[in-house]
Amino acid sequence: MTAGSSAQDGIPQDAAEPVPGAGRTDSGADTHFGFRTVPLGDKQRMVDEVFHSVARRYDVMNDLMSMGLHRVWKDLLVSRIRPPKNDRPFRLLDVAGGTGDVSFRTVEAGGAGTRAVVADINGGMLGVGRERAASLGHADKVEFVEANAEELPFPDKSFDATSIAFGIRNVPRMDKALSEMRRVLKPGGHCFVLEFSRVDVPGLDAIYDTYSFKAIPPMGRLVTGDSESYQYLVESIRRFPAPELFAQMMREAGLKRVGWTPLTGGIVCLHSGARI
Ligand SMILES: C[S@@+](CC[C@H](N)C(=O)[O-])C[C@H]1O[C@@H](n2cnc3c(N)ncnc32)[C@H](O)[C@@H]1O
Repeated sequence: MTAGSSAQDGIPQDAAEPVPGAGRTDSGADTHFGFRTVPLGDKQRMVDEVFHSVARRYDVMNDLMSMGLHRVWKDLLVSRIRPPKNDRPFRLLDVAGGTGDVSFRTVEAGGAGTRAVVADINGGMLGVGRERAASLGHADKVEFVEANAEELPFPDKSFDATSIAFGIRNVPRMDKALSEMRRVLKPGGHCFVLEFSRVDVPGLDAIYDTYSFKAIPPMGRLVTGDSESYQYLVESIRRFPAPELFAQMMREAGLKRVGWTPLTGGIVCLHSGARI
């Protein structure tokens, strides 16, 4: 926990407070890793350790932690990506796509011309994704590429849509990732960011804080043998910028018609922007 925060029953009292400049890592040498302040250059390695540690149990833990809600949120994201139902060619780039969920749902929702690329920095997550693609019969439609969101190895204007689900808060330089997601978009294409946000329903916020800080790390220990990774998860969610601030970051990355939709009382927010 950073200096200046206090804890009651293990729940930081500043947990839901907006953090000035949270996530705006472009101007300083330090950034957040959960509630810790760390050198910007160290964060990616620490994030990589988290996802290497949990990769094998990542999907089962997602279902448990969110009580299945992550499936609903991802389906909503796919309904906004709107892959064509006919055989028109359509390519999605799902950045920080991990074990492939959003890409699988997109090719299942789309027609014969829909393809997806999962780009992720973590070989462990991609390995699980490739196995899932084979068992779901999607190996010919979903490609897995080891890549850093901050430097995407794809040409300009090469995708119809770009998405990142529960990934951007892990990227040290979020501004770079957003610019890259815009760069590879075709004009007229949309960029979507699904991320945890600020609960805005009185009563639900207290329940959510208690559940997050008291239940999720022990659940992580039981299921993956690693509570620290899940402590990072709940802390990093609290450090993510409020929707207004994140929308401004999307605009600064050159995206237009930026908007957002809070989901499930603000637990999650779906941000979008277009390349004109
Ligand atoms: C919480 S998981 C989300 C996975 C998937 N999008 C989902 O919704 O199930 C976060 C992912 O971000 C990836 N990640 C973290 N930093 C990254 C970076 N700089 N570039 C690409 N992927 C990154 C991690 O490896 C991990 O797979």
